[in-house]
Amino acid sequence: MNTMNPTVTSEADMPEETLIPLQEERPAETVIEEGKTVGIPFADDPKFRLRNVEVFYGEERAIKNISLDIGRNEVIAFIGPSGCGKSTFLRCLNRMNDSIDICRVKGQLMLDQDDIYHTKRDVVELRARVGMVFQKPNPFPKSIYDNVAYGPRIHGLANRKSDLDEIVESSLRKAGLWDEVKDRLDATATGMSGGQQQRLCIARAIAVSPEVILMDEPCSALDPIATAKVEELIAEMSESYTIVIVTHSMQQAARVSNRTAYFHLGHLVEVNETDKVFTSPEHELTESYITGRFG
Ligand SMILES: Nc1ncnc2c1ncn2[C@@H]1O[C@H](COP(=O)(O)OP(=O)(O)OP(=O)(O)O)[C@@H](O)[C@H]1O
Ligand SMILES: [Mg+2]
Repeated sequence: MNTMNPTVTSEADMPEETLIPLQEERPAETVIEEGKTVGIPFADDPKFRLRNVEVFYGEERAIKNISLDIGRNEVIAFIGPSGCGKSTFLRCLNRMNDSIDICRVKGQLMLDQDDIYHTKRDVVELRARVGMVFQKPNPFPKSIYDNVAYGPRIHGLANRKSDLDEIVESSLRKAGLWDEVKDRLDATATGMSGGQQQRLCIARAIAVSPEVILMDEPCSALDPIATAKVEELIAEMSESYTIVIVTHSMQQAARVSNRTAYFHLGHLVEVNETDKVFTSPEHELTESYITGRFG
């Protein structure tokens, strides 16, 4: 009722500009239907088959019934506003969440034919198959050589020193770092630049011959030149590995990934070919995010 003008008795009588909706009207598309993802979340013969995944921190449900396939040798980017569950979901893929006491994971998570959360799963072996690179480069306070040799040593991948040397060299080459460090393999890794440290961490992940590499905002602490080098590396690595990358940079997602997955408040709202996500997203929330209306 318009109290300013007591003579107005119905909405039809009111001048247009004074009509104020009682409640914010939201288009139907902005309602998130739990468990429903628009686009192409599934793939034939996937590397990961993830169904009805839910993650709880205590009573809080951070991941809400997500189902997704990740293809072989695919680069898939996870995007979405801060706190929407990208890192939480990524960490399920190699059970990195195990180290958080209050965290519980439900649903079916398969890596090829193997149940990732099987009670008898060897988590050390799982993490050799599914390696991880973090936001902040985290080399061990050891030599460059020892950083790369660490994984092959604990997994017994090289019996002789010459075999280990070969793994270290080829991993550093694949990480685009060999020429920069070949004359100072004994130098301590923490003395390298941030970009070099991040490529060293990638070399360390590669050294155990993983099948998948998870990257959680791997470039957010790097300058544009170091970022370009890591992105170049992702393109090269995609020939041999499945790569899942979380990024806050939509340009980065557009440059490096085949498919992009848009997360919102613990839901997986849309998964589509990357070009499609950034040119004609199907879901209104994806569009709002990529056009910068929130995030
Ligand atoms: N260790 C934890 N204990 C309790 N709650 C957590 C923990 N880690 C994350 N959460 C909660 O889970 C939700 C998802 O967080 P997550 O870190 O996965 O989001 P994100 O999309 O990676 O965010 P960002 O873009 O800021 O990295 C948030 O509500 C967060 O507060
Ligand atoms: Mg995160």
